Amino acid sequence: MTHLVLMGFMASGKSTLAKQLHSSLNLPIFSTDDWIETQSKMSISEIFSLYGESEFRAWEKKAYQKILTLKKSHIIDCGGGFVLQGGMQRLGRVYYLNTPLEVIEQRLNQKERDKRPLSKDFKELYEKRKELYKEFLEVKNMQEIVEDWKRINAPLP
Ligand code: S3P
Repeated sequence: MTHLVLMGFMASGKSTLAKQLHSSLNLPIFSTDDWIETQSKMSISEIFSLYGESEFRAWEKKAYQKILTLKKSHIIDCGGGFVLQGGMQRLGRVYYLNTPLEVIEQRLNQKERDKRPLSKDFKELYEKRKELYKEFLEVKNMQEIVEDWKRINAPLP
C-alpha cells in the first residue's frame, strides 16, 4: 500500500488537482492543511498569528504521523511547507507539481494571501523550496500523474 503524495508550492494547484485525481482514481483525499484545521479547531492563519510557525510545523508533524496510520491508499494533499518534515518518500509516490512563479503570482490575490501567512515573501521562498522539491517526480498536469500511478500500480503479469 502506498499513497499518492502531491507536493508543490503554495497556490500551485495541489488541492484542485487532488479533487480531479479523486474523481479519476477514486482514492480518498487527505489534506494536511484541512486535517490540521479540524484537529486544532483553528485556521492556519490563527495558528501562525497566535503561536507562530513552529507550532504549525509541530501540527504538520502530527499530520505526518497520522498519515502513517492510514490503512488504505490516499491522495495526500500537502501544504507547501510539509516537505520540511523530511521523509516524504516514506509516505508514498511523491509528485512535485511544478507551477511557474508567474502563475502563482497571478493566483495569489489578496484573498488567497490572507489565507497563507507565508505569502508575503513568496518569491524568495519559491526559490528555496524549489531546491527541496526537486528530488520528487516533477509533473505539470493530472495526466502525467495518472499515467505514472497506473504504471507503478499495474498488476504483475
Ligand atoms: C505553507 C503552505 C500552505 C499552508 C501554510 C504554510 C508553506 O499550504 O500549509 O500556510 O509553508 O508553504 P498551501 O501550499 O496549500 O498554500
